[in-house]
Amino acid sequence: MPYKRVLLKISGEALQGRQDSGIENETLNRLATDIAEICRSGVQIGLVVGGGNLIRGAEQAAKGFEQVTGDHMGMLATVINALAMQDAIERQGQSVRVMSAIRINEICEGYIRRRAVRHLEKGRTVVFAAGTGNPFFTTDSAASLRAIEINADLMIKATKVDGVYSSDPAKDSSAEFYSRLTFDQALYERLSVMDATALVLCRDHQMPLRVMNIFKPGSIKRLIEGEDIGSLIEA
Ligand code: GTP
Repeated sequence: MPYKRVLLKISGEALQGRQDSGIENETLNRLATDIAEICRSGVQIGLVVGGGNLIRGAEQAAKGFEQVTGDHMGMLATVINALAMQDAIERQGQSVRVMSAIRINEICEGYIRRRAVRHLEKGRTVVFAAGTGNPFFTTDSAASLRAIEINADLMIKATKVDGVYSSDPAKDSSAEFYSRLTFDQALYERLSVMDATALVLCRDHQMPLRVMNIFKPGSIKRLIEGEDIGSLIEA
């Protein structure tokens, strides 16, 4: 395997499958099966799950909530998704530890970096919940941060598009697909990959990032096995 330790970021929306919101069981179980299979092959997986299928901080702000409140609500949504992932992956026979950036000890462990690394070394999947624990940061930024902290070999952003395009391929038929690009290019061209904070963290810490389509079954495994899937962004 070319990668020993990988940080996988899954958007909350990915969990809703064909539903408008919430968690679709079939999609959750398919993802859990893929992740458990990768872990069984000896690759260590840290997982960050978004919360957009349940609640979006920015939308709450638009409704008149203070942004900090909206972001706190969004962070709690990621905890719900993390618990669902834990349950589904463990049903596949793979041990999982949820570690939350916000202390909610009755529900899951708090995030302690050295303990997270120890869990990974023991072959457990670690799901990082509650983002960075701070408002004004996205779960993409949380994923970049955790990828760097755990010394991942690669960060994967598994999303609903095949990779990075010059513009939105759903709206612009002339959108160009980028199989390789730099973080600076993504920043300067304002390509919708991740927010600037998340991109800069990866750039400044030489964390390679793959953007790929999560809705193609088995593609995460093939990518981790070395297949050239999606877009690769490097410093
Ligand atoms: P090792 O010490 O490496 O064996 O790890 P471990 O996670 O198996 O042992 P530990 O005794 O730390 O945890 C046993 C179980 O309790 C695991 O399922 C943990 O996820 C869970 N656990 C540990 N700390 C907490 C906590 O603060 N809150 C909650 N809710 N569960 C916890």
